[in-house]
Amino acid sequence: MPAYLSKVAKLGKPIILIDAFAGPGKFEDNTAGSPLIICQAAKKHVPDSYLAIFVNQKNDHHKQLSYVLSDFIDQNKVIPIHGSADALLAQVHDVLSDHTVFLYLDPFGLKGCEFSVIEPFLRRDRSFSTEIVVNLSIPTIFRLASRKAVSEGRANDPRIRAFHRRLTKVLGGEYWKEILWDDSIDSEEQAEKVMTVYREKMLGLDIPQAYSGSCPVRENENGRLKYYITFYSRHIDAMLLMNDFMCTAYNTRMHEAWSDGTLFSNTNWQETRDQQELEDTILATIRELPQKSRSDLWIDIVQKAFMRFTSSEYKKVVAKLVKHGKLAFVDVTGTKKLNNQAELYIPQNRT
Ligand SMILES: C[S@@+](CC[C@H](N)C(=O)[O-])C[C@H]1O[C@@H](n2cnc3c(N)ncnc32)[C@H](O)[C@@H]1O
Repeated sequence: MPAYLSKVAKLGKPIILIDAFAGPGKFEDNTAGSPLIICQAAKKHVPDSYLAIFVNQKNDHHKQLSYVLSDFIDQNKVIPIHGSADALLAQVHDVLSDHTVFLYLDPFGLKGCEFSVIEPFLRRDRSFSTEIVVNLSIPTIFRLASRKAVSEGRANDPRIRAFHRRLTKVLGGEYWKEILWDDSIDSEEQAEKVMTVYREKMLGLDIPQAYSGSCPVRENENGRLKYYITFYSRHIDAMLLMNDFMCTAYNTRMHEAWSDGTLFSNTNWQETRDQQELEDTILATIRELPQKSRSDLWIDIVQKAFMRFTSSEYKKVVAKLVKHGKLAFVDVTGTKKLNNQAELYIPQNRT
């Protein structure tokens, strides 16, 4: 939030922050939930130009949130809403004009997160700043796809059909069927493929230039997939900025959970990073898209592998690959320096 808010403050437009599945604002152990995190950051970085809207379907969460954020509510900075996300989002969209909008959707499962709910936001005029973060529960996607029931010939069972209709609505099409009913691919790959098409759908709405990326989120480093976090933006700078901040935040937390109570508890997450995956990703992307500049290649990598690597890691690994002769570059600016404009390629003897 701090990085995003500092950036959009420069646009000079009123900022609307919407957390449509807000929860109670603070967790039982007193840690801040997304509404409190959003408000604290907004108060610090854009105190005079924001309005935050928090929606809860459950009355007890709505009440707790209203209590936790009472100061913000008194100052007319927060509107807490007791209602459903989809109803609120349909209404809100009608009153938006040139506002800068940040929309966060973090449902427990998938209910209320239908594609039609985000579609009007994706279709906003290109000149208006619009960022969307959506968390989609992967176990729920698998449960609704009900591959086992389908393979047992129960696809027409009314309950299973209702599941499938829901999944089609959330994912914005039926493409998920051929991916999730295919037992020749493992579940990790299935989830990745579904999210790739989901992102293509987000980008395929006549908006000339928009960017999106998603990242799998797990209980712990090697644990089961919990959800995929997907980020959408019209502005490449926002996309790159969010990539670095979200990658750092996520890995810091993962590292803390992994190292807590061990000899590594005082180490930094960056010290234990294995750079092999980034090296492979860079080389594979250059094989696909040769002669791209270092900065353009980074844009492709961020969209393909959102939140997996930071820009400083990327630059370091590119430099290492050049040093070891696995990569070479065309010195476009004539400075003999490996800079953003340098066009990267794989030397003949390495292809
Ligand atoms: C995963 S929690 C959100 C946690 C929150 N992002 C945080 O960090 O504290 C999802 C919340 O959305 C609420 N909810 C579920 N369905 C909803 C709907 N259709 N509309 C609005 N809120 C809903 C749930 O009761 C729950 O409080």
